[in-house]
Amino acid sequence: MSMLPAIFLLSLLGVASSEKFLYMEGQVYCDTCRIGFTTRVSEWIAGAKVEIECHDPATKELKLNIEGVTNSTGWYRIPVAGDHEEENCVVKLVESPRKDCDSPNRGADSSRILITYNVGISSNNRLINPLGFAIKDPLPACGDVLKELELA
Ligand SMILES: *[C@@H]1O[C@H](CO)[C@@H](O)[C@H](O)[C@H]1NC(C)=O
Repeated sequence: MSMLPAIFLLSLLGVASSEKFLYMEGQVYCDTCRIGFTTRVSEWIAGAKVEIECHDPATKELKLNIEGVTNSTGWYRIPVAGDHEEENCVVKLVESPRKDCDSPNRGADSSRILITYNVGISSNNRLINPLGFAIKDPLPACGDVLKELELA
């Protein structure tokens, strides 16, 4: 067998693997008690839209803007090409499909994120803290939940 096909194949693989992806993943919840973090009565939201944005810290130029949508268990998973260590990146809530739970929760509606290989993690998955939309009317169970958390 000639060496040529093997060399050709290797160079193809080289091209394919030079484009590396990091998978930014996290969950979107309905903050059913309007307290700014997840509780045992929080509900994951399917079909919620989020977006990742990165800006150049000096010029403020937009370097990256990708949208993602949550699956049936409230997870989004956004592939990002390349390393964005030098940029200011955030993930933020865009839209909720739930009319009763669609106002971005102040403080929990966006999160600064690092999109880089240089963090000593061998996995290409990067876990982001949950982002929450606030429900219009808190659930009746919230009184008990707050007591359990010693917030009431
Ligand atoms: C939803 O996405 C998460 C994260 O990617 C994944 O682990 C989970 O299996 C997905 N669930 C379904 C039902 O597809």
